[in-house]
Amino acid sequence: MGDLARLLKESWSLVEEHRDKVAGYFYARIFLAHPNVRDLFPVQMDVQRARLLNAIVTAVQTLEDPERFDEYLRGLGRDHRKFHVEPAHYEVVGGALIEALRQFAGDQWAIEYEQAWADAYAVIAAKMLSGAEADANPPYWHAEVVAHERRSKDIAVFTVLPLQPLEFRAGQYLSMECPRYQPRLWRTYSPANAPRRDNTLEFHARAVGAGWVSSALVRRLQVGDMVRLAAPMGSMTLDRRSTRDAVFVAGGTGLAPIKSLLEELTRYNRTRWVHVFFGARDRDDLYDLAELNRLAARYPWLSVVTACSDDPTFGGEQGNICDVVARYGPWNEHDFFVSGSGPMVKATLKTLAELQVPPMRVKYDSFTEMT
Ligand SMILES: Cc1cc2nc3c(=O)[nH]c(=O)nc-3n(C[C@H](O)[C@H](O)[C@H](O)COP(=O)(O)OP(=O)(O)OC[C@H]3O[C@@H](n4cnc5c(N)ncnc54)[C@H](O)[C@@H]3O)c2cc1C
Ligand code: HEM
Repeated sequence: MGDLARLLKESWSLVEEHRDKVAGYFYARIFLAHPNVRDLFPVQMDVQRARLLNAIVTAVQTLEDPERFDEYLRGLGRDHRKFHVEPAHYEVVGGALIEALRQFAGDQWAIEYEQAWADAYAVIAAKMLSGAEADANPPYWHAEVVAHERRSKDIAVFTVLPLQPLEFRAGQYLSMECPRYQPRLWRTYSPANAPRRDNTLEFHARAVGAGWVSSALVRRLQVGDMVRLAAPMGSMTLDRRSTRDAVFVAGGTGLAPIKSLLEELTRYNRTRWVHVFFGARDRDDLYDLAELNRLAARYPWLSVVTACSDDPTFGGEQGNICDVVARYGPWNEHDFFVSGSGPMVKATLKTLAELQVPPMRVKYDSFTEMT
């Protein structure tokens, strides 16, 4: 471990058990000295409380060698423009971070520790700032909701039209804010279509438990509302040069990016067999089956297998989608694309490893932590 990394880890261990208090102090310092900065953050700071502080601490601790994370940090800086973050804010936040650490570390705080945090933060902030400055895109795109349809109790499919063209690649995701209902809360969603001439983007959202943004998107959003979209991210995209057959594994609204990839394939594919495995708890959650079946009827290279894990009367396959995938195959010559909740993605990756699918042939997006 390098000297800088050791100093950062050692000093963080002095305050770690007080992290909630460190977070409270950190935000209080920022907001008392700079009340305007409060407007950048969501109203419900209790839920989000330590998000920024955690993010910074993780970045500082894990980015031991910031050069290796150059692209990530530049991207993060570009992305921060959607929060209305300006260059001057970096100094304010960096100062509050060090004050908060010093406050709770007690007597053992040392000048070397302070210097280590200041140096690491400065390198990270500089990279984020240079990413932000170099970006020619707007910080976000305004888009109007032009269609909204409830497909089940918890799922909606809706379409938005950005006011300026927004370029993305099939399979990517972008973050969205819904200012009318949940201002300043950004969450990522995956367009369910490949780029279209009319620029519209379709989204599939599932309202999760106490979810702030998803429940607004499903239950409140209506035609005519405006949303904001930030620059696309993610690399679950098609390699046009690959000649391998492809397998798409989707759980619930994890179908969205898979549909996007499928739509792209419908534009040029003649030679690759494509198998879609679409799983959900019950048949209500197979919210887009009619459309998938329509595609399968139209494109001879496409097959669709559906499964329910908690609906014994469902006529298709029974069980978790990863177990269903394992019943078919062999799969060791295929490209895989996996998308859905953390547990679903984790279980599928495990199954694919057991089936000897080389990891480099598997691309995935997990909607929640894979713990
Ligand atoms: C790359 C990526 C792409 C995504 N694409 C889509 C998409 O196309 N469609 C879509 O519906 N969602 C998608 N998501 C999930 C989405 O970003 C939000 O996390 C989700 O909508 C919940 O946000 P929220 O504000 O409603 O919940 P929050 O207020 O953030 O969370 C409320 C509670 O619900 C829990 N929770 C959060 N998400 C889930 C979940 N999925 N299942 C169960 N519990 C959860 C949280 O741990 C928390 O306890 C994607 C996520 C990622 C990372
Ligand atoms: C080293 C510097 C910084 C790092 C590593 C960092 C990192 C992060 C990360 C990873 C997130 C979560 C992103 C997401 O959920 O989309 C985040 C959120 C955020 N950051 Fe930063 N950030 C830094 C500096 C700043 C500064 C200077 C500001 C200005 C005040 C800022 C304001 C925000 C806001 C408003 C959010 C959203 C918080 C929320 O939803 O609760 N960040 N940051």
